[in-house]
Amino acid sequence: MANLLVINGPNLNLLGTREPDVYGTTTLAELDDTCRQWGTDAGHAVETYQSNHEGALIDAIHAARGTIDGIVFNPGAFTHTSYALHDAIAGVEIPTVEVHISNVLEREPWRATSVVRPACVHGIYGRGIDGYRWAIQHLAARLVRPPETIAYGPVGDQIADLRVPDGDGTHPVAVLLHGGFWRRHWTRDLMDGLAVDLTDRGWATWNVEYRRVGTGGGWPITAFDVAHAVDHVAQLDANLDLDCVVVIGHSAGGHLALWSAARRAQPSGTIGSDPLVVPRLAVGLAAVSDLRTGHDLGDGAVDAFLADAVSHSDLYRAASPIDALPLSVPTLLVHGTDDEAVPVDQSREFAAAAREAGDETELVLLDGVGHMELIDPAHEAWTAVTDRLANLC
Ligand code: DQA
Repeated sequence: MANLLVINGPNLNLLGTREPDVYGTTTLAELDDTCRQWGTDAGHAVETYQSNHEGALIDAIHAARGTIDGIVFNPGAFTHTSYALHDAIAGVEIPTVEVHISNVLEREPWRATSVVRPACVHGIYGRGIDGYRWAIQHLAARLVRPPETIAYGPVGDQIADLRVPDGDGTHPVAVLLHGGFWRRHWTRDLMDGLAVDLTDRGWATWNVEYRRVGTGGGWPITAFDVAHAVDHVAQLDANLDLDCVVVIGHSAGGHLALWSAARRAQPSGTIGSDPLVVPRLAVGLAAVSDLRTGHDLGDGAVDAFLADAVSHSDLYRAASPIDALPLSVPTLLVHGTDDEAVPVDQSREFAAAAREAGDETELVLLDGVGHMELIDPAHEAWTAVTDRLANLC
């Protein structure tokens, strides 16, 4: 069991009453209790601390040295100015995740700058108080299976986390593609749980970040990154079995997983065609597989994703997996019937069309299951994937 510390900075003592339309109605005391519970759920002890004073926050970070294994830190407005807090985090070398309740990237421009972030191992913004849960889970995943973060290209978001299983011999590889409607405040920590679980099962995992809408992505740049990330598996020096690669994506990441499997079906010279690594199976977890019918999803997400695309008659053929069938790569579609973010019809219709086009495809519909359960390795939904992987190669 590890010890985690949740630190909240200035004005966060007012949570619950402070600008509730921005920060919600949960009080700091409730948040602290909930964080302790999330820690227990993840198998770790959580302590909490709050101060309005920069020096006191620095002292708390210094005092954590030697006793605390990971810090979740919401520095409040000090985020945007305090090099002293940056140096405190860098100085104690405790893995620290920066958290913001609100989406600081999409408020006043001055909030988009974090001087603290470079000292942190990760940043989670705009997920409400749930961001603290994701941060605790991220630290837990790092502690049990520390990833090696590797750049697959020169741009900041062109990175992925490699986890290699114990034991000798070549390892099968799972490429993980997170969802979040291709928007920038959703990042690859969403897939940490699945990455750790698969690594425990003997799979090397390559949990991919990519440029998203707002970080230079959108079609076709996001797809370009995914193609490079998948091909980069061939260059990793980790004893990998390149004949046993699967791509697994959730939600908009499911779109990218299916898209990456469709690369061979694209005419030569189009983006991502001529792949170096061809997956043996593509798994879409609550995948967005049809961009044409997906236009009303995620509050305009598809339109934002395609916004910079040059409109041409082949756009959907290139960008929308259902339009690229047959993929000639087997697919597994898993979808909850109660999914309110991506309707189950996306997978139903994709599977029917894939079968019609001659692809080998399996559809698993889960009664009463929603959207986020599909990236929880403890949920029974995940066995639909692990059962299939167990006999794959
Ligand atoms: C905040 C964002 C900061 O910009 C602001 O000054 C806060 C709260 C957040 O959690 O969203 O105090 O850190």
